[in-house]
Amino acid sequence: MSSAVYPSESPVEVLRHARGVIISGGPASVYDPSSPTVDPAVLAAGIPTLGICYGQQLITHLLGGEVRKGDKGEFGSAFLDLKPSDSRLFAGLTDHQKVWMSHRDLVAVPPSGFRVLGSTTTCSTAAIEDPERRIYAVQFHPEVIHTTEGVRILENFLFSICGCDKDWNPANRIAQVEDQIRETADDRNIFFFVSGGVDSTVAFTLCLQALGSERVCGVYVDTGLMREGETEFVEETFAGLGHDVVTIERAQEEFLGPLEGVHEPELKRHIIGEQFVKVQERIMAQRRFADGSWILGQGTIYPDTIESGGSSRDQSKAATIKTHHNRVPGIQKLIEQGLIVEPLADFYKDEVREIGRELGLSSALLDRHPFPGPGLAIRCLCSAEDHAVTRTSEGWLVPVHSVGVQGDSRSYAPVLAIDSFPSTEARLQDEATELVNRTSGVNRVMALVASHEPLAKQSVFASYITHGRLDLLRRADGIVRGMSLESGFDNKVWQFPVILIPLGTTDARDSVVLRPIYSVDGMTADSVPMPDDLLRAMAARVLEIPGIAGIYYDLTHKPPGTIEWE
Ligand code: XMP
Repeated sequence: MSSAVYPSESPVEVLRHARGVIISGGPASVYDPSSPTVDPAVLAAGIPTLGICYGQQLITHLLGGEVRKGDKGEFGSAFLDLKPSDSRLFAGLTDHQKVWMSHRDLVAVPPSGFRVLGSTTTCSTAAIEDPERRIYAVQFHPEVIHTTEGVRILENFLFSICGCDKDWNPANRIAQVEDQIRETADDRNIFFFVSGGVDSTVAFTLCLQALGSERVCGVYVDTGLMREGETEFVEETFAGLGHDVVTIERAQEEFLGPLEGVHEPELKRHIIGEQFVKVQERIMAQRRFADGSWILGQGTIYPDTIESGGSSRDQSKAATIKTHHNRVPGIQKLIEQGLIVEPLADFYKDEVREIGRELGLSSALLDRHPFPGPGLAIRCLCSAEDHAVTRTSEGWLVPVHSVGVQGDSRSYAPVLAIDSFPSTEARLQDEATELVNRTSGVNRVMALVASHEPLAKQSVFASYITHGRLDLLRRADGIVRGMSLESGFDNKVWQFPVILIPLGTTDARDSVVLRPIYSVDGMTADSVPMPDDLLRAMAARVLEIPGIAGIYYDLTHKPPGTIEWE
């Protein structure tokens, strides 16, 4: 059986034949008149329904209960205490559960007929149900990996309450996806930007299988924003795969030129996305493909669409976590014209890997860490002005703009730096997340691992993307990646961004942030602790790079931080 995402206001007629309905979370408040709602008839139709986070609040609001603003937000891990009950939703679970929260509003009084199934210290109504009406709701997020028994709860809902069959396997969808590619392409060929990453390689391979190498043209663009050795890796990989349909385009100045003097993260993403469109137009014109007989293939996956606010088919109702480079206006225009094919748009990262394995792609390729399309540009933080760091009771406020995701929507805020680093044990990461939750105006916490000068003597310098800074970042990233691989630490992390921030002294104006995280699908993530001796050795080596002032460790989970810093 499969699932589909529908606009929240879909009338009951559209949903009547669903085995079950899940009303998802979102950043809105039920008391805002423009916030999303659902057709109340859906709740009266006897269709098993599960509300999650905002979904619980909306169900409460529509059925006569009371929702109000919480005294404080609850972002990150929490413990759910379940009351003794025979609830089918929590069947097989112990009464103390680790769950993931991301909310400020909460249910103060459930609708009549509902019973409260559990609570956390911050949220007295963390789960409710009315089995008569077949309506269930939770304030926490069972769909994220950090809710330890989240899958079990969803399984209870889907298989026990809704009676769904468990027969979904993404690898079985390959034939169907290939049909879709043929249908979308029709008699046109496909032009594809491959990055050497998992998503674009799998999507490209699906297109090759669907249409054959005569009709699919792959181009790898060296944007100047690549990691050390990346272009060589891609060259070798595609040669090794026998895909001589991939050509390498060196276009550094086409990307670095327009990025000159730009410091805003969103603008950087826009520029890069639009430059890809221009490069594509140039290549097509050069190769005389400008006659409309080509469409553009992209490796966009489902989380990219969700986080760009485009998952609900009703974009006004979804929050933008970030502007994905595959969703800039130039690409949106191509989408509207039916000139884009995205074979993986319905899949999550782990599913993409499964499909890749089924297609026979090597694990050297499939098990690579994700690397963002805009490349090092979003790991090379900029600042329009010089700024001092300021002392607070908790640490130092460093005024670089880093992205966070609190309450499902994006925010840019300074970083809180702690100037001592006792150890990398996991508890510190949970404390850091709690610190972000209770400190307004910061998105993350990083701890100083090593530096030439104390934080008190450091400041933020006006900085942009330059060849010099990119080279610094590439060197630091190369050292970190090498040591991470060599030590085996790399197997414990899902992704390991290394970020350059313009924090330092007049002699060495930049610092390096280490951000190893664990995740399953990139939607949520844990900051991963690193063995102390490895961390010290890594920091010492990176600090030897001339121009680097300090090494920091990002302790923040997602939420409240994001994986990337921009
Ligand atoms: P965040 O920073 O949003 O990242 O927590 C989630 C995952 O998405 C990757 N990412 C991108 N990938 N284009 C991409 O192809 C982008 O613009 C982009 N931004 C973030 C990020 O590396 C992580 O794996």
